[in-house]
Amino acid sequence: MNKLLLIDDEEDVRYSLERTLASEEIELATAASGEEGLKVIPKFKPDLVLMDVRMTGMTGLETLRKIRATDPKLLVILMTAYGTTQTAIEAMKLGAYDYLLKPFDIVKLKEVISNALKAARDMKQVVSYEPLLQSEDYELGVIGRSAPMQQVFKLVGQVSATDATALITGESGTGKELVARAIYHHSNRNEQPFIAINCAAIPEQLLESELFGHERGAFTGATVQRIGKFEQCNNGTIFLDEIGDMTPATQTKILRVLQNGTIERVGGNASMKVNVRVIAATNKPLEAAVAAKQFREDLFYRLNVVRIHLPPLRERRDDIPLLVNYFLEKIAREHSNKPKSIASAASKLLEKYHWPGNVRELENAMRRAHVMAKSSAILPGDLPPEVSGGTGGASLPSSAPVEAGATDAAALARQLFQWAKRDPKLKIIPAVERELVIQALKETNDNQVHAAKMLGITRATLRKRIEKFGIQRELSVK
Ligand SMILES: Nc1ncnc2c1ncn2[C@@H]1O[C@H](COP(=O)(O)OP(=O)(O)OP(=O)(O)O)[C@@H](O)[C@H]1O
Ligand SMILES: [Mg+2]
Repeated sequence: MNKLLLIDDEEDVRYSLERTLASEEIELATAASGEEGLKVIPKFKPDLVLMDVRMTGMTGLETLRKIRATDPKLLVILMTAYGTTQTAIEAMKLGAYDYLLKPFDIVKLKEVISNALKAARDMKQVVSYEPLLQSEDYELGVIGRSAPMQQVFKLVGQVSATDATALITGESGTGKELVARAIYHHSNRNEQPFIAINCAAIPEQLLESELFGHERGAFTGATVQRIGKFEQCNNGTIFLDEIGDMTPATQTKILRVLQNGTIERVGGNASMKVNVRVIAATNKPLEAAVAAKQFREDLFYRLNVVRIHLPPLRERRDDIPLLVNYFLEKIAREHSNKPKSIASAASKLLEKYHWPGNVRELENAMRRAHVMAKSSAILPGDLPPEVSGGTGGASLPSSAPVEAGATDAAALARQLFQWAKRDPKLKIIPAVERELVIQALKETNDNQVHAAKMLGITRATLRKRIEKFGIQRELSVK
């Protein structure tokens, strides 16, 4: 449950926002002035504050300044009417997380709140090596005892104690973001903000302005000045995720901030000092991008001062049982029930599978198993088909999200190509065929006659496929 404090001196606004925002995920408290808000904060301990700028008594800006002085990690979203944009910009300089213009677009409001709550969770939820799952302060862990993970922990420890830039590399789902957060939590900046930016998720033209801000009129559509994340996150830590996806202009600016600690807003010529620790991550081979002249070599060396490489899960299989237990406990905790145990046959399958989606895929498989298991123990049949269904080749990741609206064959095919790009082992046609056979058998309760009919092939062909793909399912039992 997330806690949100709403500070506004207008009763109507408090009332309507309360109605809009109160939900199962959000516990809401209200205050009618800045003074009252400051009193409520230490008692209510909100994750997020939503505050009006113009209030009688203490203004929003004064209140924000006081909040930042005592609690720099508490995120504040300012609300302002059109006339007071300049104040909102001041607020961003003071470190407000975001600001919203009145009247609100409810969709936008909810989106900003949900982003802020995620950022608050990232800062608050401690990532440690020996997680305290049972304790009040629920902690996440970077789990692993294998030799390569021990090496990772050593580096995390070393780099945490410094302000050095760190570059985290590794395939998708290996825990790069988690490690970035662990570095932050162990660093001496852990009382200051941590802001994660996914460079690949923001359109190229907007990223530069998101990071460094822009002046009014810097480009078409830049109707007001904007404060970027580097300015806003001063004294804190910025996590630049998917760093491989940046335009040359943005790369130059990142290089400058790493070298001199200065930034310039887009369209501005004043350079400003900032004090920000940068952690970067990528799942792309940056060396290749450098060779192809897509990524600045000098920036690469600058980022690569400390390199933390997370090996794929299949190269540290001895960590699988540890991770399985950890996830079973974590998932049980989220559902407020007892952790399930795991049957040894299921455990063996988990240790054998090649995990193209790495730890994320394993976590999703355990989530699914937790729900599927009918008893207190997880059996092989509760695991995703690609894990339980035999040993043949790479298969479709059950964890991969299905593209919204992937209802027609073309969309499905596009999605398959996306998967294939991520997992070079995936041979699309055999993988799809295998998946179809498994699904058809499931749909028909392992009735081969019906399954063959569903697939539009003969029973003999179906049998050949079952053999070819090493599909076991419960067939041996029947
Ligand atoms: N060593 C680990 N111990 C516990 N949980 C882990 C570990 N590694 C990864 N996870 C979990 O797996 C999931 C994926 O991790 P994360 O998001 O850090 O991966 P990533 O490398 O950033 O992936 P991507 O490149 O796709 O962004 C998260 O839920 C994370 O908590
Ligand atoms: Mg990531």
